[in-house]
Amino acid sequence: MSNTPIQVTKTYLPTLEDYTTLLERVWDRHWVTNGGPLVLELEATLSKRLDVSLQLVSNGTVALQLAIHALELSGSVITTPFSYVATTNVLLWENLHPVFVDVEPNWYTLDPDLVEAAITPDTSAILATHVYGYPCKHAQLEAIARRHGLALIYDAAHAFDVRLDGQSVLQWGDVSTLSFHATKVFHTIEGGGVLTDDPELLERLDLLRTFGHVGRDHRSLGINGKNTEFHAAIGLLNLPRLAANRVARKTISDRYRSLLSDLPLTALDPGDYPGLEYNYAYFPVFCPDADCRELLIEALNVEEIYPRRYFEPSLNELDFLSDAQRASCPVSEHASRTVVCLPLYPDLALDDVDRICAIIHQSMVAV
Ligand SMILES: Cc1ncc(COP(=O)(O)O)c(C=O)c1O
Repeated sequence: MSNTPIQVTKTYLPTLEDYTTLLERVWDRHWVTNGGPLVLELEATLSKRLDVSLQLVSNGTVALQLAIHALELSGSVITTPFSYVATTNVLLWENLHPVFVDVEPNWYTLDPDLVEAAITPDTSAILATHVYGYPCKHAQLEAIARRHGLALIYDAAHAFDVRLDGQSVLQWGDVSTLSFHATKVFHTIEGGGVLTDDPELLERLDLLRTFGHVGRDHRSLGINGKNTEFHAAIGLLNLPRLAANRVARKTISDRYRSLLSDLPLTALDPGDYPGLEYNYAYFPVFCPDADCRELLIEALNVEEIYPRRYFEPSLNELDFLSDAQRASCPVSEHASRTVVCLPLYPDLALDDVDRICAIIHQSMVAV
């Protein structure tokens, strides 16, 4: 039985009964935000699961802003053009100058071979994204950051539960950030995390997310980056489902891969990334050219199936950049014009996957 419309993702929710049971305790305590017991429990559980200390914040954008302030960045920051727009927006919002360096053509993460040439005396940091959850080339990026005294931040919004050679990628860099938005593999509806094991940074991040004061002691500039008991409750109830969700996401991804394998499409394959434990967050497919992608999307849209152009535009081409911020990033630009993420969520029926693949076949035969 086919279900339509089919969006690129679908938020999974705990049962209303389970949520209500947790909320009854919130009502009893009358403690709804400001480091409540559910927030603390979620932070402890996630820190253990991810092997790095996590502070829960209001969203993944604020997480990046807090990281920028905690690391006291200034001047320019080398960054990826192939990510969600929030990665660039936070730099601009914080009056930092983004220096776009192209991505490498296998996994579309920041190309370390191009980074060093872009460093100037003004550079204070590297901000890279594990795009689609595929890890950046960390050893090279870290060596460059150390050599030049730069901070290293990972926008790990897509990389919840991702490991490389058994190690959580969220341990990498000075600070990693997560998004727990409703579309992510683990979510708290809105939410995010800042992650580091550096005790001084943790203290600063905590201060910054709570207005810069502890009680009556106003120690520094700060912002409100807290999250609530209501969001933490959703997170705690979603956690036990992650293992089964991952299996379902893998099954769907494998089905897409096998049914599309005879077409001139390139689908990223976690099996090609040595040592990777993937979270199956996305199923990106790269078309031979932009026209082919548009035909494919149009054919699916006619059937009320809505894949997404993640990520378009290439961020070095954003309209609101200044001339000085624009750069040429041909790999990212080509990727952003040819990529499409197919629907992927745990209860997407395999019949629907088969139907999506049949429509894609027809659209490509029509070319
Ligand atoms: C790569 C990336 N960075 C940052 C964000 C921002 O996260 P949030 O929506 O939680 O603010 C997103 C989220 O959608 C993202 O995909």
